[in-house]
Amino acid sequence: MAKATSTGPRRVAIVSGLRTPFVKASTVFSDLTALDLGRIVVQELVQRSEVDPEEIDSVVFGQVIPGMTAASIAREIVLTAGLPRRIEAYTVARACATSIQSFINAGNAIALGQSHVAITGGTESMSDPPIFASRALAHALVDVSKARTVPAKLKPFQRLTPKDLLPVPPAIAEFTTGLSMGESAEKMAKENGITRLEQDQLTLASHQNASRAWKSGAFDAEVMHVPVPPKYQQTVARDTIVRDDASLESLAALKPVFDRKYGTVTAGNASPLTDGAAALLVMSEERAKSLGYQPLGFLRSHAFAATDPADQLLQGPAYAAPLALDRAGMTLKDIDLVDMHEAFAAQLASNLQAFASKRFATAMGRAAPVGEVDRSRLNVNGGSLALGHPFAATGARLIHQVLRELKRRDLNTALVTVCAQGGLGAAVVLERA
Ligand SMILES: CC(C)(COP(=O)(O)OP(=O)(O)OC[C@H]1O[C@@H](n2cnc3c(N)ncnc32)[C@H](O)[C@@H]1OP(=O)(O)O)[C@@H](O)C(=O)NCCC(=O)NCCS
Repeated sequence: MAKATSTGPRRVAIVSGLRTPFVKASTVFSDLTALDLGRIVVQELVQRSEVDPEEIDSVVFGQVIPGMTAASIAREIVLTAGLPRRIEAYTVARACATSIQSFINAGNAIALGQSHVAITGGTESMSDPPIFASRALAHALVDVSKARTVPAKLKPFQRLTPKDLLPVPPAIAEFTTGLSMGESAEKMAKENGITRLEQDQLTLASHQNASRAWKSGAFDAEVMHVPVPPKYQQTVARDTIVRDDASLESLAALKPVFDRKYGTVTAGNASPLTDGAAALLVMSEERAKSLGYQPLGFLRSHAFAATDPADQLLQGPAYAAPLALDRAGMTLKDIDLVDMHEAFAAQLASNLQAFASKRFATAMGRAAPVGEVDRSRLNVNGGSLALGHPFAATGARLIHQVLRELKRRDLNTALVTVCAQGGLGAAVVLERA
């Protein structure tokens, strides 16, 4: 490994990337764990990019809903993928912005000269969430394990009610408000005046763009094929949530899910629970050059920000994007493509509205709003509404997807944003040259 020098921050190059197909939870990837998905995507990324594993010095990977059997998932990926065991690894989580965080952590270490070649990304299996025992059952089981006689071992069970025996699934809900993500999206739709039609139109665009991307072969180099257990006879080669036949009529026919009476958020205009993994190969610009790689692009700037979850939970990008643009020394006018995570169409529309709003900018203490996003440059190959959203994998998917599109169009700059639980927002500015 080359010695770090002290000539100032190094430029962070994204050399390659890869993801599994994204599939609806509890379907074709049901027998795969998040570790399986993370391992196979990292193995194939290493093979496809032909990077010598001995060059890799760190793996930073994330998972949002942690598994209890492989909690240090980044390190387990190194060990199970057959990578050199000296590669250090650690796991990060920043809710839906997890693989933005893992990328930034790896990038910061590269910028400081502490790392030169890293693999980063995220993996999620919503088919395999941890299911907890109730508190009462857990306490009883602990007492049983301490008891020495058979009557003493039986005693703790006597205090349990049938309800205590029910398993407890993880909550996809905001801890402090108790509202589910969908209920929070409903709140944003109502407070920002986002109509059902606007949400369905954004959803339709997402499906149409993703469908066109698949048909044109744009995703062929971004998405690996995954043979699935138990028999490994079936291979998943494509995302399964994208609808080639999406229409406004079929979206309009869906009933609201989170507010059945007055709501506008449906199974169509919400991102579904998804299984999948995505990874990026990142290097210092110098190392990429010395190894003969032409990077897909470079990290120009990033920002994380937060807002009160009780206010507009998924509005984080509207706070993070202007900071990232400031740090890049750019405005929206300098950005060629914008890729925004679509947790819900109502969230996307609310963030676009805030970007354009003078009132929002003033409330943030800024002289001018970010600006109106040109829809023909927004999520041009589809977003999470159509592709799905394996929480920890989405950030890496966005970065890789938009960089490849910049190359196809011979454009230079991109803005990526992600909203996340807790009122968090992430924004990244990327450039090709
Ligand atoms: C919204 C949600 C509850 C729906 O779950 P679900 O009921 O399992 O959804 P399904 O995929 O079964 O869809 C329900 C119906 O809508 C239909 N549908 C879904 N998307 C559609 C689309 N784009 N066009 C037309 N129909 C669609 C399905 O075909 C299904 O129809 P059916 O009942 O006739 O089979 C679930 O996706 C969810 O919780 N999403 C939010 C996840 C979340 O919080 N993410 C965090 C983001 S920060």
